Amino acid sequence: MKIELVPEHIKKIIPYLPGKPLSEVERELGLKDVVKLASNENPLGPSPLAIEAIKKHINEVNLYPDNGVYYLRKKLASILNLSMEQVIIGNGTTDILGDIARTFLGPEDYAIVADQTFLVYRLAVQAVNGNLITVPLKNYTYDLPAMAKAVTPHTKLVYIANPNNPTGTMVTGEEFDRFLNSIPEDIVVALDEAYYEYIQDPAYPDSFKYVREGRPVIVLRTFSKIYGLAGLRIGYAVAPEELIRYLIKVKCLFNTSHLAQVGAMAALDDHDFVTKGKRVNKEGYQFLSEELKKIKVEFIPSVGNFILLILQEDPYKVYQKLLRKGVIVRPMKMWNLPQELRVTIGTHQQNLRFIKALKESL
Ligand SMILES: Cc1ncc(COP(=O)(O)O)c(C=O)c1O
Repeated sequence: MKIELVPEHIKKIIPYLPGKPLSEVERELGLKDVVKLASNENPLGPSPLAIEAIKKHINEVNLYPDNGVYYLRKKLASILNLSMEQVIIGNGTTDILGDIARTFLGPEDYAIVADQTFLVYRLAVQAVNGNLITVPLKNYTYDLPAMAKAVTPHTKLVYIANPNNPTGTMVTGEEFDRFLNSIPEDIVVALDEAYYEYIQDPAYPDSFKYVREGRPVIVLRTFSKIYGLAGLRIGYAVAPEELIRYLIKVKCLFNTSHLAQVGAMAALDDHDFVTKGKRVNKEGYQFLSEELKKIKVEFIPSVGNFILLILQEDPYKVYQKLLRKGVIVRPMKMWNLPQELRVTIGTHQQNLRFIKALKESL
């Protein structure tokens, strides 16, 4: 095979390492009843209404899905008070994050990302041979003034996670307004709100406002978190119609399956499940933060469904000890956070297991 045919920018990519799957840990360590708190999934399982809808439509998978995802876009548009031309559906938001780089970045262009954030932004830029400027966080939070200062005439795209994964911190509407007003109008801002539904802080941005104003902001949300459908792979983005038209040109054909489309439609009606998810997450956060304080483990206050711990010990060793006790979490070295460990907020039982295992591992 002529490996030299592969361009340098592809050779240089360091692949994303997802949280270890449950089955892998059970197989490798001969354990049963392993708890996965490593990928910010929903500990309550999938939305029951989504499961029902998937079962009902399972016999239709001989047909290709609706490539235009008409019904889900229409439903989202009506719920969000937008037009369906302002909505695009992806195979998870990860899919759309890649399409954004493919649509707006050429080889001469630069994208700005935070240094310690969701790694997919960086990978999306590297895959299209775009150039990256990375800006460190300040106090574990996006430093928007520094990101604005990093803009040059070559900047075409900025990725922002709000709240940030893995720190769980958010930027406010006021901060985001100031940022947007301080950068040129021809820069696309991808605003990733994967954890939007968990947020209870009224200072959080009303990001659709920018879309309605026709500003080049792409807001991304997902069915992977509060709706419990991470394995189904479906998410969406909202942006001014013109940007969506370009994204549609680039998107992979039939990127969301029929079952993902019907599952997501049903999940949108599952208000009880969403309410329960928010309550369990809030109670879990309170429980975990109190327990962490008791054992004097430092952590960053989070508005999401996960908590970043700052350890005195080597986080990788702690991670391995936790693994052997059947609890999967995530060391953050790859994310440029060498002393940190991220844990997803689970059910009460799972949180108890994690705290017990952590106490025994420190
Ligand atoms: C900030 C952020 N964006 C996007 C995603 C991925 O979402 P999806 O499953 O919709 O691809 C995650 C997943 O952990 C995330 O943390």
